[in-house]
Amino acid sequence: MSGTGREEALRARYGAEAPLDIAWNEVIAGLLAHRTVRAFRPDPLPAGALEALVAAAQSAPSSSNLQTWSVVAVEDEAAKRRLSEVARGQRHVVEAPLVLVWLADLSRLGAIGRDRAQPTDGLAYLEMLMVGVVDAALAAQNATVALESLGLGSVYIGALRNDPEAVAELLGLPPNVLAVFGHCVGWPDPQRPAAVKPRLPQDVVLHRGRYDPSLAQGPIAAYDAAMTAFQAGQRMPEVGWSGAALERVRVPGSLSGRDRLRAILERRGFGLK
Ligand SMILES: Cc1cc2nc3c(=O)[nH]c(=O)nc-3n(C[C@H](O)[C@H](O)[C@H](O)COP(=O)(O)O)c2cc1C
Repeated sequence: MSGTGREEALRARYGAEAPLDIAWNEVIAGLLAHRTVRAFRPDPLPAGALEALVAAAQSAPSSSNLQTWSVVAVEDEAAKRRLSEVARGQRHVVEAPLVLVWLADLSRLGAIGRDRAQPTDGLAYLEMLMVGVVDAALAAQNATVALESLGLGSVYIGALRNDPEAVAELLGLPPNVLAVFGHCVGWPDPQRPAAVKPRLPQDVVLHRGRYDPSLAQGPIAAYDAAMTAFQAGQRMPEVGWSGAALERVRVPGSLSGRDRLRAILERRGFGLK
């Protein structure tokens, strides 16, 4: 990509405050072009695409190589409808030809331990759930990078955590397995294109050497303006960023039912010691 391509990509991501002098290659260009896709053509994925995504996912690093994740590929219409219900009716969950459900999976190690009559008491600690969630997220994001390189698009569905027990029942998940998020995958509908969404300036997120709390008071107003302009271009409600972000954390009820997650995890067999 040319110098102009780099500048365009950085302006799309950061607006006027873009750092223009960054190292650049095709991989970085691809990453900066990321946009979440919520409108899909009905066409199926090409042969071998699912397996390519899983190979990319399995190529992600894994904490101690424990590989404490699994994924369920859902293509059945009725199952997608049920997942969409859990996600408060998100239409793309039904529209996408493929919905991946990424799992933090501590059951596999538990089963291997049982087979060998060896204890797996370490699985009952919060740390192990974090290992599973981090592993699943890294795997999923590798799949996202791979699918975008094929011209496909996707949207993560954290809203599956609105009701992890319903998801577990639908997909037959054993105890000690949590659906971390869903992931709708398909061909982007060119009639309803997605755009690159601006991010906070680097000066707000990049701490050099030591955490600097004053960065949180950085140019948030400028970012709100960039997000408002993005929302106007997408015909979305022009709410900016900071107000909407604060609304998402105002009270426990702002979490769409996910404030019950600890109790649900305990019922699903996770020890959170
Ligand atoms: C873990 C996770 C869960 C998400 N859950 C949802 C969701 O339930 N529904 C949705 O429309 N987008 C969801 N998203 C997409 C984010 O809204 C999106 O990534 C964010 O607004 C930034 O936009 P961009 O990905 O286009 O840059 C999720 C993203 C992540 C990382």
